[in-house]
Amino acid sequence: MKYITIPGSSLKFSQISLGTMRIQRKEKDANGNKIYVGKSVEEVELLLKTALDLGINVIDTADIYGHGLSEELIGKVIAKCPELRKKMILQTKCGVVSTSEGLCYDASKDYILKCVDESLERLQTNYIDVLLLHKPDPLYDPKQIAEAFETLRATGKVLYFGVSNFTPVQTALIQKYCSVPIVFSQMQFSIAHSLMIDEQVSVNTNNIHGTPFTSGILDYCRYNDICLQAYSVAQGTNGTFINNPEYEKLNKVMDTLCEKYNTNKNAIALAWILKHPANIMPIIGTTNPAHIKDSLEAFNFELTRQEWYDLYTACDKPLP
Ligand SMILES: NC(=O)c1ccc[n+]([C@@H]2O[C@H](COP(=O)([O-])OP(=O)(O)OC[C@H]3O[C@@H](n4cnc5c(N)ncnc54)[C@H](OP(=O)(O)O)[C@@H]3O)[C@@H](O)[C@H]2O)c1
Repeated sequence: MKYITIPGSSLKFSQISLGTMRIQRKEKDANGNKIYVGKSVEEVELLLKTALDLGINVIDTADIYGHGLSEELIGKVIAKCPELRKKMILQTKCGVVSTSEGLCYDASKDYILKCVDESLERLQTNYIDVLLLHKPDPLYDPKQIAEAFETLRATGKVLYFGVSNFTPVQTALIQKYCSVPIVFSQMQFSIAHSLMIDEQVSVNTNNIHGTPFTSGILDYCRYNDICLQAYSVAQGTNGTFINNPEYEKLNKVMDTLCEKYNTNKNAIALAWILKHPANIMPIIGTTNPAHIKDSLEAFNFELTRQEWYDLYTACDKPLP
């Protein structure tokens, strides 16, 4: 495992982290009502222990995953094995509201403070290492977000802060008013979902990739020493691209590279992200301990520049 540091912290963050969105899933009960069903505490314990034993210490969750169920399951494992808490860098998110009234985003100060108290209770801990705002709320007041972050830092409830799915300007606007630094930015990013790269190679062209999908967030993070976290690293537009016939060309290139490096496709998917010089932190979302082990093989080799581009263009992306 490689570890990365962030400005102003002595903590060592594992470069690959484990996401826990999929330790629960949505189902319908006998009456057709939506319910959330979680993995067993034992299964989650095994997943977390496998990750920690392999050197993954960043564990990502969110209050909205299963309406708190993901946090609750992690909390139950912490209550059962309290020694694990100190080994984890626990990251959660808030700001997505889903109630019987509907779906909305809320980045108001009171709502953020309330969410953190609820997350602490579910996680059965007295501090959260990293809090991310999950989605940009168009009605946000950057001063309120700044006040919420400062209060949470001062009370020791949260140590570090970040945003997810935010543009550079939205991030900068919060930072303008906030005395605590925004040190993480989480975005969807994979070989098959590479808008942050597409907009760079297609700048000033007429092809559809030339429009500013992510408004330069990748280089904004590099310029401002913000650690970029990549989620859905094995996903295309419709499920995983690994062994998916919809991504035949990509899988052929991956097959060749698996043979050359004597590895597996999870590792190739991660090696593509790790090759980028921005020191991106991929978040893997597997619930299968074997896939965690497979993923970490990404550190055993480095793709050549040409191989990196071959994987990119195998998703039908142009190099103008
Ligand atoms: N900020 C945001 O808005 C946001 C949005 C989405 C996710 N996230 C975070 O990012 C984390 C990761 O996202 P993700 O779950 O989409 O990541 P992912 O690693 O791209 O996807 C995991 C899924 O791919 C499957 N998979 C992995 N390797 C496979 C293989 N070799 N063959 C077949 N299927 C394979 C996994 O199945 P198995 O379990 O069987 O391995 C699992 O269903 C989440 O847990 C969450 O913490 C954040």
